[in-house]
Amino acid sequence: MMTMLPATIIQAAADTLTKGGLVAFPTETVYGLGANALNADAVARIFALKGRPSFNPLIVHVKSAEAARDYAKWNALAETLAAAFWPGPLTLVVPRAKACALADAVSAGRDTVAIRVPAHMIARQLLDTAGVPIAAPSANRSGKVSPTAAAHVREEFGVEAPLILEGGNCVIGLESTVIDVTGEAPVLLRPGSVTQEDIMARTGLRVALNEDGEIRAPGMLASHYAPAIAVRLNAADVGKDEALLAFGDMPLQGAAATMNLSVSGSLDEAATNLFAMLRALDDERYRSIAVMPVPEHGLGIAINDRLRRAAAR
Ligand code: TXA
Ligand code: MG
Repeated sequence: MMTMLPATIIQAAADTLTKGGLVAFPTETVYGLGANALNADAVARIFALKGRPSFNPLIVHVKSAEAARDYAKWNALAETLAAAFWPGPLTLVVPRAKACALADAVSAGRDTVAIRVPAHMIARQLLDTAGVPIAAPSANRSGKVSPTAAAHVREEFGVEAPLILEGGNCVIGLESTVIDVTGEAPVLLRPGSVTQEDIMARTGLRVALNEDGEIRAPGMLASHYAPAIAVRLNAADVGKDEALLAFGDMPLQGAAATMNLSVSGSLDEAATNLFAMLRALDDERYRSIAVMPVPEHGLGIAINDRLRRAAAR
């Protein structure tokens, strides 16, 4: 659902941002917890509310590639990728401009900044009306499952919840692909719905993995996106005291509860459903969540990345 909100609601949210407050808003990937990226106190509120480690930098959302140039040392790689995928679920890590007006904390001590232009209509309305860049991590407590619906943000923060713009369910359901373009070749820091194949097809650029072959942005610890109960991957059987997260048209039988990421075996559908289903099955009545295998190709790479981090303890 990519509907717009009435101008009065957007204006109230924009005022909250310009006064230094936090606003949760939908994007095509997941809900973000936004603050005015020019205001250090506002950005500090994001870290405090999420319980986010100060070494984990934030993504700055801007309305256009044009606006990104105000804060970055823009380069040819960034230009090519932005032209191909913005607005959309791709975040580019670029060198910070010399006189960069962004709060230092968005970069968490690095000389780079992560920037993206979201495609969601409500996010774009908010950026237009607020007229400032918006720093926004996913709107969950640090280490927990990202929210793909406004209700998830409410559950996550309870009485501490910020103003939330209601925009229905996020269509993509996984966080943006993060690519470092500070060097000679683009490097994948976090897999997402823009895959290496998509980038090759649209730009001819080959995206490399880190030197150690590990895909990892600074904040992506081994345990992340984690439900409170245990998660067991590549399940070939399921206990009657377990919840089952199935994939495909032959779900295992005998679980205490079952949800299916995609009966038809669609990876797009599985991505959209992943976080909401992990949340729904995260119930202490179950010993663990058993997850059936998801193919490790295309969007399945990002899905399996999140599942491995959800399972790590
Ligand atoms: O889809 C998304 O990207 C969502 C929506 C709200 O835009 N945002 C999101 O933000 O997922 P967050 O904070 O949950 O994840 C940002 C990721 C983290 O893994 C962080 O470490 C990495 O991007 N990151 C941010 N700035 C970086 C930088 N300067 N260098 C390297 N990695 C960076
Ligand atoms: Mg996050």
